[in-house]
Amino acid sequence: MTDTAKLTAGGGETEYPVLAGSVGPDVVDIRKLYANTGMFTYDPGFTSTASCESGLTYIDGDEGVLLHRGYPIGQLAEQSSFMEVSYLLLNGELPSKDELESFSWTISRHTMLHEQLATFYRGFRRDAHPMAIMCGVVGALSAFYHDSTDITDPHQRMIASYRLIAKMPTIAAMAYKYSMGQPFLYPDNSLSYTGNFLRMTFGVPAEPYEVNPAVEKAMDRIFILHADHEQNASTSTVRLAGSSGANPFACIAAGIACLWGPAHGGANEAALNMLREIGRPERIPEYIARAKNKDDPFRLMGFGHRVYKNYDPRATVMQATVREVFESLKVSDPVFETALKLEEIALNDEYFIEKKLFPNVDFYSGVILSAIGFPTEMFTVLFALARTVGWVAQWNEMISDPAQKIGRPRQLYTGPTQRDYVPVEQR
Ligand code: CMC
Repeated sequence: MTDTAKLTAGGGETEYPVLAGSVGPDVVDIRKLYANTGMFTYDPGFTSTASCESGLTYIDGDEGVLLHRGYPIGQLAEQSSFMEVSYLLLNGELPSKDELESFSWTISRHTMLHEQLATFYRGFRRDAHPMAIMCGVVGALSAFYHDSTDITDPHQRMIASYRLIAKMPTIAAMAYKYSMGQPFLYPDNSLSYTGNFLRMTFGVPAEPYEVNPAVEKAMDRIFILHADHEQNASTSTVRLAGSSGANPFACIAAGIACLWGPAHGGANEAALNMLREIGRPERIPEYIARAKNKDDPFRLMGFGHRVYKNYDPRATVMQATVREVFESLKVSDPVFETALKLEEIALNDEYFIEKKLFPNVDFYSGVILSAIGFPTEMFTVLFALARTVGWVAQWNEMISDPAQKIGRPRQLYTGPTQRDYVPVEQR
């Protein structure tokens, strides 16, 4: 029998079904609360609210567990590829060899951008942040691909999803090239998804470009680590935008805009900037003291998470990947030593222990991306590129869900009560 939750409020007692997922906390279905009691729930930041039902990603924040369709992120990062994880997120199961080949081939057939979009780039200032460019260009895709904006048609939804996954590397690389004043490179579909992206970013038409397999592997792994993360702020933004029936390109542009914030995807850029500013391990205590000072808005970037109250499993893989990249590129960066020391000091500090603040995915990713050659402004762009598959998978899941409704939260109103207008001469 289904469990129920009883609520005594509004002068009576009402009962609400308790729904159980396959794993994780149960949820109280309060959809009838307003009809029953005339009251809303109050939950700014959705700290206790499940906004939807989903079968994609599961996180146990206390245990530091992250599963995509049931598979642990560590196993996927170690043994899988970004294309395979993309297939898994979109379709629910790991592909067979043939299915993977066919999926990768299909994605590679959508890597080119409409030629007119190159003109669009030239409208931006050369020093524009690449996230601003990406947000604009992705939003503009709906003006170029009219044949995949009918969200009621599953085929069009699929084509739009493939287009978005395939074109993001081209869009991201072009944003980078534009900021450098270098010519855009067309995709090369003989390369892997990630190899092609590296070539479009770091290659130049004047010379052949050889993809470094170690960098390709590390980059692919970084994409896997960012592919999806349950109902985070940008994914919820994509779902909310999509709930009105907006086209998929507009929804993903909304997600990119949300991701840009320093509390979310922008933290990878902010974390590396912070580590560079700290500069030397001797200065760490000063920054730890600032992070703990209530009167100082400074926070340790790359630390803390709404859901993880344990080590972010993605940060574990990230830290190991830093060492691999340094080794294969035969480089080092003192910023990594600063990061390791900062982590050690923070994890032994009462403030961080008590508040359960651990390194998150963004803490080490900047160190790797910088070693590969990306400027800090590109970091969040890479996050957006990889998260696109999660966004489109979640968006598809939402559109196919019969319980889906337009997202329309209510509020606790604390403004003035009704009053009469006073003409300006009498004020
Ligand atoms: N440095 C210092 N104190 C912190 C930090 C931090 N990085 N993060 C949280 N706290 C403190 C915060 O001041 C608060 O203290 P108190 O209870 O005394 O007011 C307490 O910990 C709880 O913080 P919160 O802001 O209420 O928690 P939240 O769940 O709303 O915020 C967060 C989560 C990720 C926005 C926050 O931890 C943060 O700002 N971290 C730095 C930015 C960052 O690294 N973001 C990337 C998140 S992972 C990638 C992604 O998913 O996008």
